[in-house]
Amino acid sequence: MKAFTRLLTLVSLCAAAVASPTPSAAATSAFPTATSVVSGLHALAKAAGKLYFGTATDNPELTDTPYVAILDDNMMFGQITAANSMKWDATEPEQGVFTFDQGDVIRNLAQGNGQLLRGHNCVWHEQLPDWVAFGNFTFDELISIVENHCGTLVGHYTGQILDADKIRAEPFNDDGTFQEDVFFNTTGTAYIPAALNAARAADANAKLYINEFNIEFAGPKATALQNLITQLKADGVPIDGVGFQSHFIVGEVPGDLVQNFQSFVDLGVEFAITELDVRMTLPETDELLAQQKQDYETVINACLAFTECVGVTIWDFTDKFSWVPGAFPSQGAACPWDDNLVRKPAFDGIVTGFQG
Ligand code: G3I
Repeated sequence: MKAFTRLLTLVSLCAAAVASPTPSAAATSAFPTATSVVSGLHALAKAAGKLYFGTATDNPELTDTPYVAILDDNMMFGQITAANSMKWDATEPEQGVFTFDQGDVIRNLAQGNGQLLRGHNCVWHEQLPDWVAFGNFTFDELISIVENHCGTLVGHYTGQILDADKIRAEPFNDDGTFQEDVFFNTTGTAYIPAALNAARAADANAKLYINEFNIEFAGPKATALQNLITQLKADGVPIDGVGFQSHFIVGEVPGDLVQNFQSFVDLGVEFAITELDVRMTLPETDELLAQQKQDYETVINACLAFTECVGVTIWDFTDKFSWVPGAFPSQGAACPWDDNLVRKPAFDGIVTGFQG
């Protein structure tokens, strides 16, 4: 935990200056809304022994004043992840040309609010500029490109990121085979230690994570990641944590969540819930919202069961800016705040989850 000292100090200093918020009341909802009156979800997470409760955000959303008022509340959110602006297409759109303007906006927002920052991400097969995806590089060239990208990205934020969260996001297919992206097709798995070593060299204190979805339950994908972690550790490659994205469906939170977390913890890694949301097939109903409340509570409880679970990040806090409807037509309403920034029953689920 030593690596976090500077950032945690900043949080506690600023937290003292923030007034306790009350539930949002200006907008109304046709559905049941949250009833909890609490100082904030991050405050509850801290009281429960976690480092943070946080949210993803994205640059275009920062022009929405009521949204930003909630985002800026460091009793509510003690940690921020940039949903897009630290990805490869945003940070190295041309080879060797690095642009951190948008990422720095998110970094500055978090620092100004006394919120921790997770890096997101170094190597991912999506949101890759064409020069990487279609560059026809040799093994050596692509390894060098990965090292330079991860080293420069993490180096730019040295000392400012809590975890270089997604050193490798989503390396596997659901059947446990490796994602056949340009990295795997060109280098096999060699790009993974290359990325991790470059990140560690750039920031000795940032925790290095591999981030995945559909590893929250036992199966070939979870096993493949466990095998990778075991191999990396055997090879002396730095790997500190696992990010469980946790993009869940209402009523379908895995029943073996806790056992599955344990099987990763047994490998000697910490973990975080990095992209939590719980989507439903629309339209919303009172029943779906009640189940969603339970689902959020279940996930928070599972994190609380482990000292190795450092914190929870939701993948934006409002349905207004959720990625879900864009990716899953006819699904949505996945976040704890609705389109009008009104707190949903899911908010109460998080509260009761943290209160044990
Ligand atoms: O930047 C362009 C903009 O120029 C254009 O006008 C606009 C038109 O649609 O698109 C913009 O790009 C969008 C980008 O977000 C930035 O807003 C893409 O279309 C859109 O597909 C992209 O979606 C992001 C998605 O990753 C990409 O796969 C989501 O916002 C982001 O929340 C989502 O996050 C991922 C995590 O990084 C990794 N885990 C899964 C998670 C959900 O997919």
